[in-house]
Amino acid sequence: MTQRLLRGRLLSFLDAPQSIDDVTAYRFEEDGAVLIENGVIKASGPYADVFAQAKDDVVVNDHRPHLLSAGFIDTHIHYTQAQIIGSYAAALLEWLNTYTFVEEQRFGDPDHAARISSAFFDELIRHGTTTAAAYCSVHKASADAFFAESHRRNMRMIAGKVMMDRNAPEALRDTPQSGYDDTKAVIAEWHGKGRQHVAITPRFAITSSPEQMEMAQSLVREYPDLHMQTHLSENHAEIAFTKELFPWCNDYTAVYEHYGLLGPKSLFGHSIHLSEREADAMAASGSVAVFCPTSNLFLGSGLFDLKTLDERDNPVRIAIATDIGGGTNYSMLRTVDEGYKVLQLQGQRMTPLESFYRITLGNARALSLDAHIGSLQPGRDADIVVLDARATPAMALRMETVGKLTEELFLLQTLGDDRVIAETYVAGEPAKSGMAKS
Ligand code: GUN
Ligand code: ZN
Repeated sequence: MTQRLLRGRLLSFLDAPQSIDDVTAYRFEEDGAVLIENGVIKASGPYADVFAQAKDDVVVNDHRPHLLSAGFIDTHIHYTQAQIIGSYAAALLEWLNTYTFVEEQRFGDPDHAARISSAFFDELIRHGTTTAAAYCSVHKASADAFFAESHRRNMRMIAGKVMMDRNAPEALRDTPQSGYDDTKAVIAEWHGKGRQHVAITPRFAITSSPEQMEMAQSLVREYPDLHMQTHLSENHAEIAFTKELFPWCNDYTAVYEHYGLLGPKSLFGHSIHLSEREADAMAASGSVAVFCPTSNLFLGSGLFDLKTLDERDNPVRIAIATDIGGGTNYSMLRTVDEGYKVLQLQGQRMTPLESFYRITLGNARALSLDAHIGSLQPGRDADIVVLDARATPAMALRMETVGKLTEELFLLQTLGDDRVIAETYVAGEPAKSGMAKS
C-alpha cells in the first residue's frame, strides 16, 4: 500500500487549552509531517523523524509554509437546507413554516436528494469540514441519498432521517410507527457501513407527538451506542409552545428527559435559554449543548452562555456547529469568529487556541469520536486540512505583522473562510484540489 507524507507546520490538540499561553494543550512542529497509510495516520511529528519511518516509494505533498490541522468537525447541520440559507424571517417559527417546511418537501424525490447531497459534500470539503452531524428530511430517501454520497466519498458522517409527525405540513409528517420503522431501516442499511454513523433524529418536541417521542425512546434503548440529535431551547416562542404541548413537563429539557433521550451520545442543538435545573440535568447525563452562533444571531434566537455552562461545578459538555441553513456559513472558521463575538457581547473570552480546539478535538470529544478524529495523533483517521493564512491579499498584508502562532490562528479565524483551505484530505486522499473552483 502506497504511503503519503504531508509536510507542513503541524498543529494538533491534546487537550482543552486553559489560556492563551497554554502550550501543554497542543503539539506544534514548525517543520512537521504526517505519514498516512490506508487512510490512517501512521506517524506524526518532526519531519526528519517521520520521513525516516516512511517507505522508499512514499508520495510526498509539501505544504510548507501552511498549517496542517485535523479536519474541522461540524456537530449540527441540515443538508436539506442548502437552498434556503439566508431566507428572510423574523424568528425561528416563522422561518421554519415559511421556508424550511416547504423546502424539505422536495427531498421525497431521490434525484433531488442525490443532487443536493453531492453539492453539500462539495461545500463541506471546500470549507475544510471532514465530519458532520447532519439532519436529513423526514423521507427515508433523503437519508439514503446522503449516506450513499458520504460512503462514496469515504467520509466519516453522522446523520439521521428526521422523525416528525405533527405541527408540520402533511407531506413532511411520518407516523410514530413509520418513523420508527424507517429509522430502523436506515440503521440496518447504513450504520457501521464504512465510516457511516446513523443518529436517531426526532426533529424537536414541537413536531413529535408523545407517541412518537416514545418510539424515539424505544430506538435509543435498542441502539444505546447511536447518537441522538434534536433541538432544545432555541427561541422563547418555541419554548412556550413546547410547554403547552407537554404540560406534564416542568421545562423543555424535562420533555426529552421524560422520554429517556438525555445521555452522553445526545446532541441538543442551540440550548440557549436553559435554567439552572436544565443545565444540571444536561450535565448529570453527559448530554451535549451545541452552540450555533451564526444561526442564533441570524434568527435572533439569543446569546449562548458558553462560559457559564462550561465553568459551573458540574460543566455541561459543549460543541460548536454551523446549523446551516439557519446558520449562514459552512465555514467552521466563520462559525468560531461569530461565536467569539457572541462571547464578547457577554464579557466572556475565547482564545484562538480554544477556537481551534473546539472545531477539532473539542467537537470530536463532544461526538465521542476522539479515538478516530479530531487530532493528528497516530491511529486517527487521516482527515486533515491545510490552512493558508495568506490566502487573500488582506490576510497576506496582515500576516506581515504576525509573529506568533496564536496571532496566526486568530487571523485565520477572523478573516478566514473557504479561501484559506488550501487542501482537504479525506482518509488520506486530497479531496479539494481538482474540485471545480467556487
Ligand atoms: N428547530 C426545529 N427544526 C429546526 C431547524 O431546522 N433549524 C433550526 N435552527 N431550529 C429548528
Ligand atoms: Zn438545526
